[in-house]
This record gives sequence, C-alpha cells and structure tokens, in this order.
Amino acid sequence: MGSAKRNKNVSGSSVSRQLRRKGSSPIPSRPFVVATFAMTVDGKTTTRNFTPVDFTSREDKLHLFRQRALADAVLIGHTSLKRDNVRLGIPAKLQKARRKHGQTPAPIRVIVSDKGKIDNQLNIFQTNISPIIIFSTRQMPQKYRQALREKATLHLTRAQHVDLAAILRTLRDSYKIRTVACEGGPTLFRALLERGLVDQLNLTIAPYMFGGANAPTLTGLSKEFLPASVHCTLTDMRVVGEECFLTYRIKHPRRRSK
Ligand SMILES: NC(=O)c1ccc[n+]([C@@H]2O[C@H](COP(=O)([O-])OP(=O)(O)OC[C@H]3O[C@@H](n4cnc5c(N)ncnc54)[C@H](OP(=O)(O)O)[C@@H]3O)[C@@H](O)[C@H]2O)c1
Repeated sequence: MGSAKRNKNVSGSSVSRQLRRKGSSPIPSRPFVVATFAMTVDGKTTTRNFTPVDFTSREDKLHLFRQRALADAVLIGHTSLKRDNVRLGIPAKLQKARRKHGQTPAPIRVIVSDKGKIDNQLNIFQTNISPIIIFSTRQMPQKYRQALREKATLHLTRAQHVDLAAILRTLRDSYKIRTVACEGGPTLFRALLERGLVDQLNLTIAPYMFGGANAPTLTGLSKEFLPASVHCTLTDMRVVGEECFLTYRIKHPRRRSK
C-alpha cells in the first residue's frame, strides 16, 4: 500500500483482468453495489452551488470510466444527472474489453427520481450506447411519461418514494444485473448507505479545500448522524500525482435484514 503507481491510460487489459476476477455478489438477493466518488481534502463533493464536479485530474476521470466499465449497470440520482448532464457511456477501448468477455458494450444506465420530472433532452437520452431504465413513482406527470417512454423503460411505483432495496432486487431478477456502479450523488449514496446497500466505496481525495457548510460532503447536507456508524475496511490505496485513490469494503452487520 502507499506506493505511487502511474497509469495514465484507460487500460483495456487491466479492466479485462478485473472483469475476470469479478465474482458474483455475496448477497444473494441483490447486486454488489460499488460507489465511486471524488472529494476535496475537506470532504466536499461539490460546491455549494452544486456546479458540475471538475476538481479532479484526467486520471480520476479515467478511473471513473474504468469503474463504470466493470459494472453491469450504472446508477445515478436525478440531481446529479441534471446538474452534470452526463451520458454515462464508456470509451471505445473499454467497450472492446467488455465485448471480449461476452458482455454488452456498456452497462445499463439506471436513473432514480421520486418526482419523475426528468428532461428527455438531457445528454443521456441522446445516446443509445445501452438501455436506460428509470425508477420513479406515479407522481411522474403524464407528459414526462410519454416523452421518456420513447427513450427508456419506466418502473413507476405507487408509493411516495422509490424503494432502493426493491430497485436492486428488480435489477437482479429482471435484468440479470450482478454489479452496480453507483455514481451518486451524495443524497442517493447516503440513502443507499442508510439501508445497508453499499458494498464498496472508491474514493478519490483531490488536493483542494472548498470549505462552506452548504457544500455537500460524501453523505450530503443532512445534519443528522447516520442511523449507525458504518465501518469501512481499506483494501487498496494508490497515489497518482497529487491524488489519492482509496478503495474501501463496507462492513455489513452480521445479521442482515435486507
Ligand atoms: N464528487 C463526486 O464524486 C460527485 C459524484 C456525483 C455527484 N456529485 C455532485 O452532487 C450533486 C448532486 O447530488 P445530490 O446529493 O444533490 O443529488 P443526487 O443524489 O444526485 O440525486 C438526488 C435525487 O435523486 C432522486 N431520488 C430518488 N430516490 C432517492 C432516494 N431514495 N434517495 C436519494 N435520492 C433519491 C430524487 O430525485 P427527484 O428530485 O427527481 O425526486 C432526489 O432529489 C451535483 O452537484 C453533482 O455534481 C459529485
């Protein structure tokens, strides 16, 4: 641990190795969930204006692509989708590595939103690299349903809020998803964490400090403590340039209720 490694390219072969190593989820009822985030030295994941995150290096962006490429599905909250206007695709080299292993070129893209007012002009809907699935509620207005059905599969629950555990079960049972890459944001991450639904955290520490009580940390803006402290085990650490790439396994209590 701690040795500086340099890897400036999206390495198809390194992803291939990881794809080979990838096992099935240790939790039989749901996929294995890996969250990937970057934060400043003082723990901020964005500015208080929620501007798109651009405080990390090219290496970190490649790291995010590689993590995405390892998953069967990539999961994002509506606010991050809207703010960052991401497509959630992967570079051609990583698509090739996935194909070599009998996978689809890119992970399925999954959006969660309670209110469902998702703009179908967002960049994600302008590329068909992989199917898009939206988990939302019946609060989604009809005009949004019609527009979005042309671009995505909708799962609308009667409940007020989407049920994250149920979403993961559906992804596993109906879409054969074994690994999910969660790309935030902090509100979604915290909700998953509170329900014991995160298994691994990839965390990049970038050499900046933002300050600001109104800038979200990794677990968002909530003033509340988590229901129980979450124990993380550090399993890997890489230093590239001035950034530190950490990998944690999230410890789950022995007796799982989910
Ligand atoms: N530094 C990083 O690595 C990183 C990574 C990702 C994002 N970000 C930044 O984070 C900011 C956005 O994060 P955010 O925390 O405000 O929002 P978020 O987690 O991206 O999205 C929250 C939204 O997701 C929907 N949602 C549905 N069910 C939910 C549930 N159970 N829990 C949580 N959300 C649920 C809701 O959408 P509706 O409102 O439509 O109901 C909710 O408002 C952006 O500025 C982005 O740039 C940073």
